[in-house]
Amino acid sequence: MLSAIILAAGKGTRMKSELPKVLHPVAGKAMVAHVIDAARGAGAAQIVVVYGHGGELLPERLRVDGTDLTFARQEVLNGTAKAVEAALPALRGECRDVLILCGDTPLVDQELLREFFEQHRQQGSVVSILSAQIDQPGSYGRIVRDGQGRVSGIVEARDATVGQRAINEVNSGIYAVQRSFLAEALPAVGSDNAQGEYYLPDIVSIAVARGLPVEALVTGDFTKTLGVNSRAELAQAGQLLYERTCRRLMDEGVSILDPRSTYIETDVQVGVDTVIYPNVYLEKGTRVGRNCLIRQGCTLIASSLGDGCTLKDGCYLEEASVGAHSSLGPYAHLRPQSVLAEEVKIGNFVEIKKATVGARSKASHLTYIGDATVGCDVNIGCGTITCNYDGFDKHVTVLEDGVFVGSDTQLVAPVRVGRNAMVAAGTTVTRDVPAESLVISRNEQKVVEGWATRFRRQKQKK
Ligand code: UD1
Ligand code: CA
Repeated sequence: MLSAIILAAGKGTRMKSELPKVLHPVAGKAMVAHVIDAARGAGAAQIVVVYGHGGELLPERLRVDGTDLTFARQEVLNGTAKAVEAALPALRGECRDVLILCGDTPLVDQELLREFFEQHRQQGSVVSILSAQIDQPGSYGRIVRDGQGRVSGIVEARDATVGQRAINEVNSGIYAVQRSFLAEALPAVGSDNAQGEYYLPDIVSIAVARGLPVEALVTGDFTKTLGVNSRAELAQAGQLLYERTCRRLMDEGVSILDPRSTYIETDVQVGVDTVIYPNVYLEKGTRVGRNCLIRQGCTLIASSLGDGCTLKDGCYLEEASVGAHSSLGPYAHLRPQSVLAEEVKIGNFVEIKKATVGARSKASHLTYIGDATVGCDVNIGCGTITCNYDGFDKHVTVLEDGVFVGSDTQLVAPVRVGRNAMVAAGTTVTRDVPAESLVISRNEQKVVEGWATRFRRQKQKK
C-alpha cells in the first residue's frame, strides 16, 4: 500500500500573506489540493497532510475533499524533517513505502509520481529523490554527487559553498522512502545549519553514511516540480497550469485562438471542434460540448453547455446549464439554477436566475427572468421583467408553451400565463391569464390633432 505525506505546515513567509501559503489558489484550486489530486491519481490509498500555521483552517478547508485524507498537526514549525515526524503515527500499518511531497508544488502530476515511485520500488533504494536540472537553481537544495556520480547528500542553498551553489541539479522536495528507514533516520537529523531547522533532505546523507542505497531520478520536465514561495512564482505556476490544460484540450481536438489568454481549470471538459476565443475563463468543473463557439470575454463557472452552442462576447454563466444548439449573448448573464433546454436564444443584456426555459424559446433583448418556468416556443419581448420579489419573499412566474410576450411587459409574480396566450406590449400582468387569450393593460390612446404645431408656434413667439 502506498501512503503519501504532504508537508503543508509552513507559513510561507515570502508570500507576505495572512493565508497559509498552500491554501493560495492556483488555477482555481488551493495549491495543496493540486498536490493531493496528484498523489491520489498516482495511487496513494492514504494521504496524510501535515498542517500547522493557520491552525485548523487547513483541515477545515480540505476535509470536504475526501475520506482518504488524514491530518497531522506539527506543533512547532522547526523544519521539514519534524513535519514528516509528526505524520508518522498517522501512517497505516500496512504502509511499506512513503511518498513525501510538499504542498507548495502544485504542478506535480500523477504520471510523474507514478513513474518515480515505480523506479524507487524497482531499484530497491531506501531513499529516492526526484531531482531536476535547472539553469537558475536559486533557493532550491542542491544534489551533491561523488566522483562516481552517486548521490552523497543534499545541501540547502543557504548552507552551500560557492562551488555547491553552482550545481544545477536540485531537490524537487519529492521523495520516496522506505517507512522503516524513515522511522530510524528522522531522530538522527540535527539542526546544525543556517536556519537552525531539522532538514528532511538530511536523511539522504544519513542513508549514505550507513551504506544504504539512495537514488535520484532526474525529471525531464523541471516545470512539474516548480516550488511556489512567492507571489511571482504563484503567478508563474498558474500560467503553467493553464498552459498545460490548454495543451491537453488542443491535443484532444479543441481550438484555442490564444492559449496565453485562455484560463481553463484542470477539471474542465471541452468537446471536440469547439472553438475558444481569448479571455475566456472556464472554471469549477465546467463542461462544454462539441462544436461550440465561445467568443471573447466569457466566464463559465460550474456550468454546462450542450453541443453546438454559441456564446457571443461577454457572457457570464454560474451554475447554469444550457441545452444543445442554444445561442447566448453578447452580454448575457445566467445565474445559479438557470436551466435552458435546446435551441434557446438568449440575447444581449438578459439576466436569468433560478428559471427553466423550454426548447426554442427566446428572450432576445434587455430582460430579467427570475424564479420562473418558461415553456417551449415562448417568445419574450424586449424589456420584459418578472417582478419576483416583494421585499420579503420570492414568487414564481409561469409562462406556458407557446406564449408570446410583447415588449415592455411586467409579470408581477406569482402569476401564470396560459398556453399560447398573448401579452400585449406594455402590459403589467397581475393576475393569471387563461390559455389562448390576449391580455392587455394600457391606458387608452388619445390623439389631439394639430396640438404639436400650436405648441411650437406659441413657444417661438416668446
Ligand atoms: C525545500 C527543501 C529543498 C527543496 C525545496 C523544493 C528542505 C529543508 N528544503 O526547501 O531542498 O529544493 O523544498 O521545493 O526541506 N513545511 C512544514 N513544516 C516546516 C517547514 C516546512 O510542513 O516546519 C512545509 C512547507 O509548508 C512547504 C514544504 O514543507 O510546503 C517545504 O518548505 P519550504 O519552506 O517551502 O522549503 P524550501 O525552502 O522551499
Ligand atoms: Ca518551497
